[in-house]
Amino acid sequence: MTESRSTHITWHAGEVSRADREKILGQRGATIWLTGLSGSGKSTIAVATEKRLLEKGRASYVLDGDNIRHGLNRNLGFSPEDRTENIRRIGEVAKLFTDAGILVLTSFISPYRADRDAVRALMENGDFVEVHVAASLETCERRDVKGLYAKARAGEIPEFTGISAPYEKPLEPELEIDTNERSVDECVDQVMQYLEERGYLSA
Ligand code: ADX
Repeated sequence: MTESRSTHITWHAGEVSRADREKILGQRGATIWLTGLSGSGKSTIAVATEKRLLEKGRASYVLDGDNIRHGLNRNLGFSPEDRTENIRRIGEVAKLFTDAGILVLTSFISPYRADRDAVRALMENGDFVEVHVAASLETCERRDVKGLYAKARAGEIPEFTGISAPYEKPLEPELEIDTNERSVDECVDQVMQYLEERGYLSA
């Protein structure tokens, strides 16, 4: 738990509730938390799901590791402490989006179970949908979309997840998507089916 240095602060409630916002939007807010190795397909699935949701008239937003590290989290690296802080901040941002009634898709390796569990604990029941984007290290390394695995193997990137830093798989994710064999469309189908069945797409 990050120490709080803010004192003499008072929570100020608004006059519009989350339920009001959800009613206008005709959906439930939620955080769809994609976790998995670099190159497992998290961002691809997030972006494709966002598009599919838009086509259905649903409001969603993607928070992506590489993108957020260009701005909000540009002062963080890849040490265990920095990754924890990365995920803590994203959890708080995702919570705000969720409260706004948006279907947030987060795409972060989020390798530590404790960090993901801390985000889950931050949210209301049912607001946090953990999705394990499961591709084997072999698959990710073969894809090597960004050429980072080759660099990590060559010792040019220290603490690289899966090579020289750990990845702790979710034990009980709400969803597990095996991207080793499946097409992007099939993966998106799986997410959409979950959201539909659980009533996230209607207020
Ligand atoms: S996390 O571990 O803190 O959740 P995050 O998802 O934000 O990571 O960022 C991962 C992305 O940063 C990778 O997809 C990759 O492009 C890049 N990256 C750079 N260095 C590393 C590293 N040492 N380990 C993992 N990813 C890295």
